[in-house]
Amino acid sequence: MRVIITDSYEQMGFEAAKLVAGQIYLKPNSVLGLTTGSTPLAMYERLLALHKTDGLDFSEVTTFNLDEYIGLSAYNPHSYYYYMQENFFKHININQENIYIPNGMTNDVTAEGIHYEQLIASKGGIDLQVLGIGQNAHIGFNEPDVRFVADTHMVELNEETILANSRFFNNIDEVPRCAISMGIKTIMMANRILLLANGRNKAKAIYKALCGDITPQAPASILQLHRDVVVIIDKEAAEFLS
Ligand code: F6R
Repeated sequence: MRVIITDSYEQMGFEAAKLVAGQIYLKPNSVLGLTTGSTPLAMYERLLALHKTDGLDFSEVTTFNLDEYIGLSAYNPHSYYYYMQENFFKHININQENIYIPNGMTNDVTAEGIHYEQLIASKGGIDLQVLGIGQNAHIGFNEPDVRFVADTHMVELNEETILANSRFFNNIDEVPRCAISMGIKTIMMANRILLLANGRNKAKAIYKALCGDITPQAPASILQLHRDVVVIIDKEAAEFLS
């Protein structure tokens, strides 16, 4: 595991963007696993800049997002599909047919999960998976639990996550209670994982992920078992690392 600690959130985004860009330069038809939330916004901003100024080419890239809320359509401004279009996809030259996000409007989450796993496999697997981390050390929407769930599946969000994510909604009652998320095996099958975090409110989760016991109570701790993880965090998120 390689840990890079940056002075600022912006620098975290810049370092992350360089790593993603390097992946695409080396393999133009890379399969990227992507995440949403506040954390990766600086990375997306830098990637857009690299596309505009340096011609970083996404035309052959395929993307798979980690998760989506159940019950929100692609047109809902709170859906992760909408987030990805607004913050990233509509600004780059990615082929819209190469964008995959779990379908939050499915009537059959189990079938959607199986289909999503098959799609990832059919593209040869994920080359580089970008992750954020929850304050409870969740990755994707794999919440602390008594066991790790392997494949893409339905998740009931826990109270801490609902509260944390309510900042994106008008009020807490609007936050969906369920989501569909890649599982732990889906994430761990990626060739390389890039874990991002910023801010003091992520410091405990980062400590648990990097230094704590490997346990489903802190899902990100499983990353200690992956052979190629790069962690890019700002100094506030690194507060408890020695
Ligand atoms: C989002 C996702 C989540 C977030 C995590 C951190 O697609 O899978 O695991 O990465 O909840 O969210 P932020 O960055 O908003 O603190």
